[in-house]
Amino acid sequence: MDAERLHVIAVEIAREAGALARRRRSEGVAVAATKSTLADIVTEADREVEQLIRDRLSAERPDDGFVGEESDAQPGTSGVTWIVDPIDGTVNYAYGIPHYAVSIAAVTGEPRPGRWEAQAAAVYSPVVDELFHAVRGGGAWLGEQRLAVSTVTDAGALLATGFGYDPATHDGDLARVRRLMVLARDLRRAGAASLDLAYVAAGRLDGYFERGLKPWDHAAGALLVTEAGGLVGGRPGGAPGADMTIAAGPGLFERMRDLLDEVDGVGGNG
Ligand code: IPD
Ligand code: CA
Repeated sequence: MDAERLHVIAVEIAREAGALARRRRSEGVAVAATKSTLADIVTEADREVEQLIRDRLSAERPDDGFVGEESDAQPGTSGVTWIVDPIDGTVNYAYGIPHYAVSIAAVTGEPRPGRWEAQAAAVYSPVVDELFHAVRGGGAWLGEQRLAVSTVTDAGALLATGFGYDPATHDGDLARVRRLMVLARDLRRAGAASLDLAYVAAGRLDGYFERGLKPWDHAAGALLVTEAGGLVGGRPGGAPGADMTIAAGPGLFERMRDLLDEVDGVGGNG
């Protein structure tokens, strides 16, 4: 398994897919369907961009597995699986807010968070033409600039979070925000988890936390953060994933995890 080759493929396809998403956005966007809840939408562009990524990957790497947000998963035989969100930030995309990204990760091992080992990642934000990418052991990069997570100052941490599409979870989301504000100089909710993680890697955010993420929301971004010297985890002792995803530099990470555990531990919001 050649991680550098996977990295090159991830970067190339993310660029092509991002250009397609941007072109389709400029032509106008229609919501194609709702998914888990009325707020959870998919556009024709999400499906078309995922198909493009699938086609390119199966031409280049026919034996690899595929897990994407908008189509059925397919197991592979090579030991490598691609974890793909064709458009992360779909609600931004549908509203014409330019903060969205294509997220592509190549992982080895069982294709489940906590079981996989991410090898290569690309998160491409096409409107601002920013390509965040990483290869295992080779650092995280924004274009040709090497990334490093921030060190928090006395002014407090610039934190980011997200709220899932299920209204039943919002009380818990807000309880976590309330608890973590003690660490914060301010809070962002920008609307694309892959970019939240990429921004932690770049030091544009000090820390990020969110419950309810899907594998394609965090697979690529998590490798960016760890390759930039940061930590990514879930509930204490757990892997990042649906229960909780936390990303930050060392020090802040542990403080965030402890406060989140006060909310979500035994007797908390669960
Ligand atoms: C969503 C975004 C959002 C996060 C949600 C995700 P999507 O992904 O990353 O920021 O809060 O949990 O589902 O639906 O735009 O691909
Ligand atoms: Ca998506």
